[in-house]
Amino acid sequence: MTAVHSSGNLVAILGGSGLARFEGLEVLRREVIRTPFGEPSGALTFGRLPAESGWQEVVFLPRHGYGHTIPPHDINYRANLWALNEVGARAVFAVASVGGIRDDLLPGSLVLPDQIIDYTHGRPSTFFDSAELPVTHIDFTLPYDGTLRAALLDGAGRAGIGLVDGGVYACTPGPRLETAAEIERLARDGAHMVGMTGMPEAALARELDLPYAALAVVVNAAAGRGASRLAISVTDIARIQDEAMGLVRAILAQTVPRAVCALDQARAVQGVRVSLQPAGDPVKGNPS
Ligand code: HPA
Repeated sequence: MTAVHSSGNLVAILGGSGLARFEGLEVLRREVIRTPFGEPSGALTFGRLPAESGWQEVVFLPRHGYGHTIPPHDINYRANLWALNEVGARAVFAVASVGGIRDDLLPGSLVLPDQIIDYTHGRPSTFFDSAELPVTHIDFTLPYDGTLRAALLDGAGRAGIGLVDGGVYACTPGPRLETAAEIERLARDGAHMVGMTGMPEAALARELDLPYAALAVVVNAAAGRGASRLAISVTDIARIQDEAMGLVRAILAQTVPRAVCALDQARAVQGVRVSLQPAGDPVKGNPS
């Protein structure tokens, strides 16, 4: 299928808990997209954000639905990513709430994960599972797009908001929160934060070759840690989420309008590097 709406400059924002609407986005229209994998979490919202030279086109989709009714294990991740790709999104910025495992990731911290560990099971996690398609193994060594991560760091700097650079996101199945022992195990595995929606979302974006980065909001100490030693306070989560989403919007407002240009520049530099390789070089896979 071909992209039907692309102007070549469309950027997607996938909202998470606390971000079912993107205030500041001038909404132009909503559109229901059907995909071979079923229905996305809701109609896509098309709008625009102010940019230095005019406007930046944005497509927004809240992964839990506009009424926050879809739990993490029921999200149709394939339909969401397929729909964003179908309408021509060039990049996806995903916003996700997490529990903090690493000591410095206190509630209210904003983090730019650079790695992910998948503990989910049973979620449809690939587009390549039909009998007609060849077996396909994507490279996923670095699960988040480096150019978009750099753009987010730059955007946070412009907005004057602190953003922790790097961290390992553990994705658990949900919808229940973890036990203290499970969090201890994740910490031993090297995880720094825990959420329920990072996978298969990130991998599906990679299967589509769609640059993807996540902005994680720490809304609680993970089970058994800090203030969550005996229990996680759900009322505290809602308060922290509300406070932090204003900062998330400010970072995205600075980042999103520069993302496509940054991707184009990165691709051009990559292209130059590849064309400077001598003949027979393994980058091009030239067998001679
Ligand atoms: N665990 C899993 N997912 C989460 C948490 C948590 O503690 N907080 C927000 N999303």
